[in-house]
Amino acid sequence: MANTMTMTDNRTGKSWEFPILSGTKGPDVVDIGSFYSQTGMFTFDQGYTSTASCKSAITFIDGEKGELMHRGYDIAWLAENKKFLDVVYLLLYKKLPSKEELESFRLELKQRSYINEKMLKLFDALPDKAHPMAALQSTVAMMSAYYKRDMNIDDISDFMELAKRLVAKIPTIIAFYYRHVRGFPQIYPDLDRGFVENFLYMLRAFPHDRVDLKPIEVKAFEAVLLLHADHEQNASTSTVRAVGSTHAHPYASISAGIGALWGHAHGGANEGVIRQLEEIGTPERVDEFIARAKDKNDPFRLMGFGHRVYKNFDPRAKVLGKLRDQLIDEIGIDTNLIKVAKRIEEIALNDEYFVSRKLYPNVDFNSGLILKALGIPNEMFAAIFVMGRVPGWLSQWMEQKENAPVKITRPRQLYVGAVDQAK
Ligand code: SDX
Repeated sequence: MANTMTMTDNRTGKSWEFPILSGTKGPDVVDIGSFYSQTGMFTFDQGYTSTASCKSAITFIDGEKGELMHRGYDIAWLAENKKFLDVVYLLLYKKLPSKEELESFRLELKQRSYINEKMLKLFDALPDKAHPMAALQSTVAMMSAYYKRDMNIDDISDFMELAKRLVAKIPTIIAFYYRHVRGFPQIYPDLDRGFVENFLYMLRAFPHDRVDLKPIEVKAFEAVLLLHADHEQNASTSTVRAVGSTHAHPYASISAGIGALWGHAHGGANEGVIRQLEEIGTPERVDEFIARAKDKNDPFRLMGFGHRVYKNFDPRAKVLGKLRDQLIDEIGIDTNLIKVAKRIEEIALNDEYFVSRKLYPNVDFNSGLILKALGIPNEMFAAIFVMGRVPGWLSQWMEQKENAPVKITRPRQLYVGAVDQAK
């Protein structure tokens, strides 16, 4: 039996065969690369709900079972046994680091955690209270002017240098911008602190107060970054690949990915969750908002619920849910927010509208509460998502390059517009 699928145009009875490809896990795919040349037609799949855009060996999600793995390692095992930098190394170097490799990698990142001070002048050009994602996206795009010199992006060692610079400098850019808008004196990276702890330190410290962080705070923040590191071909990763397919520089690709992640349907959802919980205000008002979420005529959606791929619990939400409760027990949070969140979970997980559509809490539902408990302002949540996701974007950009020849991303369309307007 041939590994092919036959498609028949019932209008003409004409049939065509297309090869079926199998991966190491997950659904097979029908290779329709020759579909237009064979049939003279395009396929149509708005939002790419049934379309595989590439072959990848980085991340796999089983949406039905609620499973996620990076290069074969289950996400719950990684979250339990590894640190964020282990996963960054796994994504970029395709294997988990030995103790020595991790230490050397950590040092390389520390050495790259400063930014060219001239870049900070951009912050003065931004209006007060400009969203941190505007500052971050602009600064990363600007990095191509500051750090692109003598860099051959086709050379893997040059690419790895760029990757380490982005992973190392993005936390500094975010922390510096946070302090800039508040008029706080800048706090530089403390190279005696761990990668994750250092970010919280740069946010909170003052020259007179070097701050002592609680272990649970570092553990929770570590998990937030680790659990955001990569997630197959989501909207922002697909954007990074699409921009990379034009042979644009990786800084341009990552900056575009930041823009895609900003949307509240994607990486902006964690900020959306908290704003929604604050708007609901009390558990008594939850029913009113659940009704709005179910109303087809109301564009309102329950932030932190639903997912294009997961039709089960998002495994990341499960890990974060446990940490959320542990963190809140130890450092406290506006208990009303938690009561509202738990009331939403309680209703949504039993209500037919959500159950029938398999709408479960996703990663953003709990990450927002953890970041809130850590005292990070709502408007910075998406930037924190970027900090976690940038190693995933870089590994996907690199994989696309490795699977040369890179075909430029250029979908077709079904034209439904006007014709023959001027003869
Ligand atoms: C992330 O893709 C990734 O991997 C992303 C991400 C990553 O790590 O990169 O996991 C990160 O972006 C997580 C998702 C964060 N977004 C939110 O929490 C925003 C709220 N969720 C929705 O906007 C929505 O669920 C999406 C965008 C996440 C998914 O939308 P889909 O796959 O396009 O699904 P859909 O809009 O077709 O919804 C199917 C049905 C619809 O109802 P019907 O037309 O069938 O009657 O479910 C309904 C939708 O109206 N629905 C919701 C809902 N999400 C879907 N109804 C109310 N509230 C919601 N949140």
